[in-house]
Amino acid sequence: MKDIYLPDVTTIDDITEETGDVTTFTLRFKDKRLQEEFDYRPGQFVEVSVFGVGEIPISITSTPSRPGFLELSIKNAGLVSGALHKLSKGAEVGVRGPFGNGFPYERAFGKNLLFVGGGIGLAPLRSLINFALDNRDRFADFSILYGSRTPADLVFRKELELLGKRPDVRTFITVDRGDDQWQGNVGVVTTLFPKADITSEDTLAFICGPPVMIPFVIHGLIKIGFSDETIISTLERHMKCGVGKCGHCCIGHKYVCQDGPVFSYKEMKEMVEKA
Ligand SMILES: Cc1cc2nc3c(=O)[nH]c(=O)nc-3n(C[C@H](O)[C@H](O)[C@H](O)COP(=O)(O)OP(=O)(O)OC[C@H]3O[C@@H](n4cnc5c(N)ncnc54)[C@H](O)[C@@H]3O)c2cc1C
Ligand code: FES
Repeated sequence: MKDIYLPDVTTIDDITEETGDVTTFTLRFKDKRLQEEFDYRPGQFVEVSVFGVGEIPISITSTPSRPGFLELSIKNAGLVSGALHKLSKGAEVGVRGPFGNGFPYERAFGKNLLFVGGGIGLAPLRSLINFALDNRDRFADFSILYGSRTPADLVFRKELELLGKRPDVRTFITVDRGDDQWQGNVGVVTTLFPKADITSEDTLAFICGPPVMIPFVIHGLIKIGFSDETIISTLERHMKCGVGKCGHCCIGHKYVCQDGPVFSYKEMKEMVEKA
């Protein structure tokens, strides 16, 4: 049986600088068979290790509908992510996973999709967005609302521009603080709700962003008429094992690493009640 704590070795095949402190790494398993067999759901994460430094949980930002590689967008936030940012193409990186439940996209078949992302939180949503675009006929309307602190912090900017040109996708972008060149919306991501004319009818909302953003977005959606079951968000917790063994990530009766990191607002309320 495979040791769940033993990482598999991948090689960095490509590096794309998204912003001053966020980089997207394209990884491929050294073992071709492992690469072919590696399957995951949008919203799942992997434990990434820099050998001799440490291991961190990172959401998969690529989509399983485009197999053959694994993309991770990583913010330089501290020890391990900083060490990853110093690596070059060809370097070896450990990967365990995929872990967690992923987004319940089957619930959205035939329905409208609303994505609300903040900062690097667009990374796991990108996996679902591209997955849903690759299965476009299974979903109704697409709306993507995305906010970052400044224009320089917007990740996947070129991809968002391309999406904005599609007739079947609505994109709305905002920044907390503009600059001389910025002509778009200024304000937190919830200021986009009236502009995007969001409806709760037949719609599932998928949220990912910094912890401070999540409650504001949830309350904004509830005001519009979304029910607790139709609001789906990722939760970020300090993690160690990633596989429901160490207890670092528990909220109430749930392991965020195993039962999550994706939860409906209904589930989140139950977790807090039982905590
Ligand atoms: C399921 C999951 C998915 C994630 N996906 C991504 C992703 O796609 N891209 C990305 O850039 N980051 C992601 N993160 C966050 C990432 O794991 C942390 O930024 C990383 O662990 C920081 O480790 P470090 O060694 O670089 O920094 P450290 O030196 O350990 O820490 C730097 C600072 O960040 C704080 N910190 C560390 N981990 C967390 C955490 N999990 N939550 C809140 N604060 C923390 C520390 O307390 C410290 O203040 C994800 C986290 C989880 C739990
Ligand atoms: S990270 Fe160890 S139990 Fe969740």
